[in-house]
Amino acid sequence: MPVTPATPQTIERAAGLLRGGGVVAFPTETVYGLGAHAFDAKAVSRIFEIKRRPSFDPVIVHVADEAMLARVVREISQRARTLIERFWPGPLTLVFKRSDAVPLLVTAGLETVAVRMPSHPVALALLRASGVPLAAPSANAFGGLSPTRADRVAQAFGEQIDLIIDGGATPLGIESTILRLEPIPALLRPGALTVEEIEAAIGPIERNVSDESGPASPGRLPRHYAPRTPLRIVGPENVPLEERSHAGFLGMSRAPGGYAAARLLSPAGDLREAAAGLFEALHELDDLGLERIDAEPPPPRGLGLAIADRLLRASRNRTGYCQ
Ligand code: TXA
Ligand code: MG
Repeated sequence: MPVTPATPQTIERAAGLLRGGGVVAFPTETVYGLGAHAFDAKAVSRIFEIKRRPSFDPVIVHVADEAMLARVVREISQRARTLIERFWPGPLTLVFKRSDAVPLLVTAGLETVAVRMPSHPVALALLRASGVPLAAPSANAFGGLSPTRADRVAQAFGEQIDLIIDGGATPLGIESTILRLEPIPALLRPGALTVEEIEAAIGPIERNVSDESGPASPGRLPRHYAPRTPLRIVGPENVPLEERSHAGFLGMSRAPGGYAAARLLSPAGDLREAAAGLFEALHELDDLGLERIDAEPPPPRGLGLAIADRLLRASRNRTGYCQ
């Protein structure tokens, strides 16, 4: 098995593999990433192959410090500097103009590149040891649930990856927030950093970017982050008892009667705890082979926005309609 605990020796070995064009899965504070040398188009093409990811879906580039950022982007605006100072390292991805060093495969042909500086000590140590920026999408098959544990990565890809660094469960459990800064700041994907925190730093941001420009952020494709089991968002009080016996329930703090299985994200009603456990709870319910998952809508504030976004995308069938 390529799953190896995150010792200094493992990180050195992983860095060598990455410099040589290998593909390595590693933990970040949000979810596990599937990484490759960002300036090596051939290595990055292996990520697309392994994930079965369509080539129109650009990948996030991870950097260890501002010197590495300078190799990836053409310019850094004042607003970007404010956000970097306030929130990096951390779960905020910013969109910049790409430098010539970044292959168009990474950006799916766009002249922009999405970049973040992760705060997870293993991710940072790996970036430093590699000495190169790492292109890394979440380590799941395209459209599936993101992994928050190394064994989920192994389950999905096994021997196809050169090495999986096991750094335990990822603390935040939900992907980074993606923000575009030009022409005005706009939220491309709600995530682990809340809109409220961003707005406290730079003022109001556009929250409803239209999808008409195509998949500018394909995490926003209608169906994404989805379990195999059909999922619907519904208050349990609206589900008759006889519809519960073959279904699973996913909620915050109280389990209604009659369901075949239930997962509660935070008995204390804490949204951080709920976000951290969301994907693993969905994985577990999915593995039970139930007819359906009923997910209770989260409160519409703070991290509830990111949780609601993931549930909504998971609830859509392949034609894009809710099921
Ligand atoms: O927390 C995270 O962001 C995790 C960890 C591993 O860092 N990564 C992650 O990557 O979620 P991925 O590939 O699953 O999602 C990246 C999202 C996609 O929706 C993609 O469309 C968007 O970032 N993206 C990448 N480059 C972009 C760009 N130039 N402009 C707009 N969106 C972009
Ligand atoms: Mg993803």
